[in-house]
Amino acid sequence: MDRRGFLELLGKGASLGSLLRLSPLGMLEFVRAQSSANTFRRALLVDKAGEPFRLDALEPHQPYVFAYPFAATPNILVNLGVELPPVDVKLPDGKSYRWAGGVGKGKGVVAYTSICPHAYSYAAPNLGAMGYYKPEGGRGPRMVCCAHLSAFDVSRGGEVKGGPAPHALAAVVLEYDAAKDEVYASGFVGNPEFDAFFRAQSQALRELFRPAAKAREEVSRAVVVPYAEHSKVPTTCPVLG
Ligand code: FES
Repeated sequence: MDRRGFLELLGKGASLGSLLRLSPLGMLEFVRAQSSANTFRRALLVDKAGEPFRLDALEPHQPYVFAYPFAATPNILVNLGVELPPVDVKLPDGKSYRWAGGVGKGKGVVAYTSICPHAYSYAAPNLGAMGYYKPEGGRGPRMVCCAHLSAFDVSRGGEVKGGPAPHALAAVVLEYDAAKDEVYASGFVGNPEFDAFFRAQSQALRELFRPAAKAREEVSRAVVVPYAEHSKVPTTCPVLG
């Protein structure tokens, strides 16, 4: 970032003190958050055998999980079974960014970080605080964080439908190659809050990853597994909104 860009960031409301307190990952995240797209290393989605994961294999409303862009940051992948058009997702400051809609042959496959932007509970291997809830009655498909019942509309870019979450869930950018039925993750739209997540979950991640540095290893091939295989203790809770 050049001097002018840095000064522009300060002008957008960040204090110099708060910027200087950020870790290198936090600084990178802050800079990325100034644009709507957060780009990370591109990763092919693969199955457990290492073969390209076929979106055709996704039954509607069956959630899957893949870690990306870091070993400790799981995302939820699901086929909503209907074509999903692009949506402008509103931010609390009144700005917005564009979510590109569903991918795959039916344009109904979506993926979102499982990290809740309220207090960073997530689909942990030992406790699935964030989970997928299929449509029911008049209510659309949701991801819900059972920690404090934040609910997100996964058919509309992850916008908040209930609970204390301050902004939408960040959506994984999926690049779909229709000819090969292969899909890559290449970043996020929205703020995935990785720096805050690693700080909030540092103790728990030390139990899950040994050595602890493995938690922040970047993924080059993202292995997709059924949600029930990833989160051994799923939770269920009421869906508000
Ligand atoms: S941590 Fe998710 S709602 Fe509070």
